[in-house]
Parts: sequence; structure tokens; C-alpha cells
Amino acid sequence: MPIVNSIADLRELARRRIPRAIFEYADHGAYDEVTLQRNRRDLEALTFRQRVMVDVSSQSMTTTLAGEQATMPLAIGPTGLTGLFHANGEMLGARAAEAFGIPFCLSTMSICSIEDVRSAIKGPFWFQLYLMRDRSFNEELVARARDAQCSALMLTVDMPIQGLRRRDPKNGLAIPPRLTLKNALDIASKPTWALKVLFGKRRTFGNLEQRMKNTGGLTTLSQWIAAQFDPTVTWREIEWLRSRWPGKLIIKGVLDAEDARLASAAGVDAIVVSNHGGRQLDGGPSTIFVLPEVVDAVAGRTEVLFDGGVQSGQDILKALALGARGCLIGKAFLYSLAAMGEEGVTRALQILREELRISLALTGTNDVRSVSRDVLR
Ligand code: GLV
Repeated sequence: MPIVNSIADLRELARRRIPRAIFEYADHGAYDEVTLQRNRRDLEALTFRQRVMVDVSSQSMTTTLAGEQATMPLAIGPTGLTGLFHANGEMLGARAAEAFGIPFCLSTMSICSIEDVRSAIKGPFWFQLYLMRDRSFNEELVARARDAQCSALMLTVDMPIQGLRRRDPKNGLAIPPRLTLKNALDIASKPTWALKVLFGKRRTFGNLEQRMKNTGGLTTLSQWIAAQFDPTVTWREIEWLRSRWPGKLIIKGVLDAEDARLASAAGVDAIVVSNHGGRQLDGGPSTIFVLPEVVDAVAGRTEVLFDGGVQSGQDILKALALGARGCLIGKAFLYSLAAMGEEGVTRALQILREELRISLALTGTNDVRSVSRDVLR
């Protein structure tokens, strides 16, 4: 077994273990991937201040995220198709997160259903929602999340329509995955994946299965999104959602100070600064670039979470320095799951925690809750 001590190692293992169509769905972004690259580049461009002769014999990593205790300032973000990266992927991800003591957010576009994840863990999890044209479907999903004792609802607002990820149609990405002449060689070289996922039990959208039957069995993610997602949604719908979901509400996909003020005025519990991992508006800014202006705009009234390019504990520390309460991982989660299942996710979380702990110490800081811009040059 090779030594795995970075998210890049897990990514490389994932690349070798799952079909290209699935790997590239996670690994790539929209159009020319300018924004995808900016997410990474702008994080890398930030420079820490090394501080010395400070007592750093112990670090406190615990915090709260959307009011929930977390053993580090990190949550597993909602990712589509997770159960195609590893059999029962969402259940395994939720289990690893629970054992680690951080929140797990299940995507509407998951393979394992809300009920599957409920059965896999004891504690609460978060559920991510898209608003659909058919509001009765949203009501049904919200009711299912409530029955499953989800502790927060995360409404994704940056996908009224979908940005094109050019690889997906070229790779013939289909749900459920299909064996074709074109991908036969690729799939034959990933026999464990084929056995467990291609011929496994859970291979399609667990939350949508019934509805998809009624809508003619659409097979691609983009077809489903174009047909079902509601492009008319405005801030008014927050009120509608609030009347059905009295619990915690997080808005994901804010990338502008003005939108952050509107979200805050709508009374949401937290916002996630996100450009959907560079998968939507290409040419938009990186998330780390807009984080400070969003934090200023909400002026402590609303908690700010962060995602987009987080691949290390150092990245988490940079986001905390610029005012985020915590981060979400998407790609890093999917790589680790594809690489080694639940053990892989646990490994990724351990790597991120150690990197964060050591970087905290080397910047002369002991508590994730007191990180400020002082750790940056
Ligand atoms: C779904 O949310 C995606 O980005 O593919």
C-alpha cells in the first residue's frame, strides 16, 4: 500500500480506481475552467506569516458550524452522484464524518437516499435542496429531511440553470452508469468498481427515483436539471421555504457582497461562499477573492462558510483568516471516497486536521476560533 499523506495522493488513487466519466465529473469544472483554476490559484497566492517563540504545545480545533459542535472547522459538502464514486458512498461519507465529529451534508442529487443515510448513522446530518418547478416535490423532500431528523437544510442558489461541464457529454456520463462499447475498456480495468457499483444495488438518484419514472426516465444529470430545476426562484422563495422548514437554513452559492446582504436580510442562519467548485459561472471570481467582502457585508450578522478549492489544512486556515467560520469539501471528499471508501474519507479528514493543526502552530496560533488576518502577510 503506498503512503497516502495528501489529498493529491487520494486523487491519484481515485483516478486509477473509478471510470473516467465519474472521476472527471468531480475533477473538472464549467467551460474553460477559468474559475475552477482561480479557486486554487488565489488560495495558493496567499502567504502565511511564520511566527516563532510562541507556546504552541496544544491547539484547539473545535468550533461550531451553523450552531452545531464540530471537532474541526470543516463539513463534508453536498456532492452529486457520490454513490457512484464508491458503493453506498453517501452512507460511508456520513459515517466517516460522524465518527470524526463534523457535519455531513447530503445532496438532493445523491445516489443513496435520505432514508439510506438516516439508517447509516445515529446523529443528525444536513440535507441540501434545489428548488424544483414542481413545488410538491420540494415539499416531499423537505418532509423526508424532517422525518430523517436532518438538523439543517442547505439551499443551493447558484444553479437556476446548469453551466456546461464539457467532459460529461464527451464521456457519456449517464445515471445509472452504462456499459458501452466506448467505455468497455475503461470499465474492464476497474473491476472492483464494476462489481460494486455498475452491478451494485444503488446506481441511480436515490431521492428522485420515483419521480424520474414519472418523467420518462431521463438519464443525464444535465437533462434532469434542465427539466426539473426552477429558474424563476428569487429571494421570495426563502419565505415559502421557511414556512415549511422551521429549522436551520443555510444558503449555498453566494459570491457577491450584495447577495450576501440580501441573504442576511432574508434571515438565513448561514451562507456558504461558493461558486459550486468552478462548475457554474466560468469567468467569475474565486471564492477566496470574494470572501472578505462577503464577511464585511454581513458584518457578523450571519455566519459565513466557505468552499471552492479546499485541498489542505493550509487552505482551511487561509479561509478562516479571511473570516470564514469553517469550510466545506467537495472534490477532496469524492477523491478520498473513490480511493478507499470510508477509510479513505477518514484518512482525508485526518490529513486535513493535521495540516491545519500544524499550520496553526507555525503561525503562532492555538485556537481555530481566534484566527484572524494576522496569520497572513
Ligand atoms: C451538482 O450539483 C453538480 O455540480 O454536478
